[in-house]
Amino acid sequence: MTKKSATKAAEKNKKLLVGIDLGTSRSAISADNGNKKWVESYVGWPRDFIARKVVGKPVLFGEEAVAHRLSLDIYRPLKNGVIKEGTARDEEAVKELIRHLLTLVRPDSDDAKVRAVVGVPAESFKVNKVALKKAVAEFAESLLVVSEPFAVAYGVEALDNAMVIDIGAGTVDFCIMHGTVPTEDDQRTVLTAGDYIDQQLENFLRERYPEADFTINMVRRFKEEYSFVGEPPSEVKVEIPVEGKSTQHDITDEMRRACESILPAIVETTLELIAKFDPEYQDTIRENIILAGGGSQIRGLADYLEQAIGEYGPTTIKTVEDPLFSGADGALALAREMPEEYWTDL
Ligand SMILES: Nc1ncnc2c1ncn2[C@@H]1O[C@H](COP(=O)(O)OP(=O)(O)OP(=O)(O)O)[C@@H](O)[C@H]1O
Ligand SMILES: [Mg+2]
Repeated sequence: MTKKSATKAAEKNKKLLVGIDLGTSRSAISADNGNKKWVESYVGWPRDFIARKVVGKPVLFGEEAVAHRLSLDIYRPLKNGVIKEGTARDEEAVKELIRHLLTLVRPDSDDAKVRAVVGVPAESFKVNKVALKKAVAEFAESLLVVSEPFAVAYGVEALDNAMVIDIGAGTVDFCIMHGTVPTEDDQRTVLTAGDYIDQQLENFLRERYPEADFTINMVRRFKEEYSFVGEPPSEVKVEIPVEGKSTQHDITDEMRRACESILPAIVETTLELIAKFDPEYQDTIRENIILAGGGSQIRGLADYLEQAIGEYGPTTIKTVEDPLFSGADGALALAREMPEEYWTDL
């Protein structure tokens, strides 16, 4: 082969490796060309031809979709951590979301074949494998679907005697790592996560301030700015309109109660998973717990859990550095290192 044709052949075989974190509220992609992007997991199609004219695009994503929600049929396809079965539109939405994520990291000229590792909530991993395969088939030549906490664990090299707790919007996913690829037995899912905190906070606020005028989106923004558990770091005061007039409201107690509402299930599930593990390694795992996902940013969370779980023996809890990309980065690391036989050809 001449040098020129060899380069050409190499170009033809060039593969773009990507790690994708498909989340209920946010989805992220990390590619081996160095690009990283994320988008809120909303997909919206214009409702009619007027809407289409107004928004000027056949399909919208993320914040842009939310901003135009009145003109769109809008989907959050992974509600509760799984692709809603039997709803063609949700499957279609997942597919569009993946297409969109790929266009975000891929230069226009790049026609390299894509190899994708997709991390999904643990429940989705069980029930949605076929749907995911369909969703990715058009854009990638090979695929590997893994559970989200496993992707995170791989990314931070917590492969042995460690536990990852991924606190997302729809689910909290737990995974024990013990030096092999984790099985279903090593994983648990709890359905009270970020979205549940939002609902609780909304209820508490409606009860205390019936005259205040707010939406669930505002409640989520309050939470993302001021979330905490345990002793309040400071008073939480937010502006909420009352009869059209912007008014300050103290929401410290409500914030604390809402954020703490997900803790009992987290503590219980952690203890359960550890108790069922080989007794000789239980202490080591307890000292190697890693929090990931957007919910890991709740202030005071690691300390609180360290104390609660610490009643059962010495406990160390760390939080990943970049909750937004730790899943996608871990999935990319897997894409780089996964032996051939693990991949599914599409
Ligand atoms: N500072 C913060 N404090 C508390 N919660 C936060 C903060 N920042 C983000 N969140 C919450 O984290 C959740 C999103 O986290 P993440 O992106 O890990 O979820 P996801 O992957 O979309 O969900 P899932 O894993 O359940 O599919 C949302 O509920 C969001 O409101
Ligand atoms: Mg997630």
